[in-house]
Amino acid sequence: MLTREENDLLTQTGPGTPMGDLFRRHWIPACLAEEIPGADSTPARVTLLSENLIAFRDSDGNPGLIDAYCPHRGAPMFFGRNEECGLRCVYHGWKFDVNGMCVDLPNSPEGETYKDKVTIKAYPAFDAGGIIWAYLGPKDKLPPKPNFEWFDMGHDRRYLRKYLLRCNYFQAIEGDYDPSHGFFLHSTLDGNNSNPGNRLRGGNRLNSFLNRKHVQIEDTLYGQQHIAVAGFGEASNVVTVSQFFMPSFTGSGISGPGVYASNLRIPIDDESCYHYRLRWSYEPFTPQQVQEDKYGGYTYPDQIPGS
Ligand code: FES
Ligand SMILES: [Fe+2]
Repeated sequence: MLTREENDLLTQTGPGTPMGDLFRRHWIPACLAEEIPGADSTPARVTLLSENLIAFRDSDGNPGLIDAYCPHRGAPMFFGRNEECGLRCVYHGWKFDVNGMCVDLPNSPEGETYKDKVTIKAYPAFDAGGIIWAYLGPKDKLPPKPNFEWFDMGHDRRYLRKYLLRCNYFQAIEGDYDPSHGFFLHSTLDGNNSNPGNRLRGGNRLNSFLNRKHVQIEDTLYGQQHIAVAGFGEASNVVTVSQFFMPSFTGSGISGPGVYASNLRIPIDDESCYHYRLRWSYEPFTPQQVQEDKYGGYTYPDQIPGS
């Protein structure tokens, strides 16, 4: 059982907290790329690690992540005008680019250079794999950009959805490395055959639970590797290998024949998180696979029709 202090250490990710600093040494998802769909599109509100931010895409299509409030008098930048490579505050028109530089300060006298001293908080961002990635840490500790294999998968080979979870990110992760719960919680009288991952492992998961041989956890350069070995029938074993990528990305094994899974849990604040649920394959998904992956054996919040 964790002490209250240990629990706080793991779950609090706001500025100045130890776990918040750890998240601020990694590139993490800020929002889906489709939330800021094109050049000069409507900005999106983003709360990340307890910081209120605005994501937008400039006229060249570059993503930016800036403070939600204008440094002049605190007006919400969400209502800013996204035009000509910058987001212009609606209140007095100060305009900022994706790097946080003030590129226009109307109503200042001719020759005035005050705008050169003005910036808005801005974080580096880039667009890959259907996600806008951001780095919220110190500039001198900027790590290389991630380059996951699924970044290059086309839409027909990658299935990505984002869900709001009203719990701390850590609670959301724990289930991925809790091998016992699946055999009960995710079991049904039909062996949960509506779930493609369960079909692959055999319908009656309780049997493989009873034959479980061992679980092993290894540290890796990028996080951890979780290896579970279970007996399967008389003569064979099922070996499940799940990766954990720092700071909070899990690879929860195979999700169906040839379908790989990742779950990215990103703190909004200390009471809620986003779950980016990713499935990808070397072969194009069939409509049936996508349907099963959306609904097979699990209950998620309703999605916007058509998504
Ligand atoms: S409050 Fe934004 S320009 Fe004045
Ligand atoms: Fe007024």
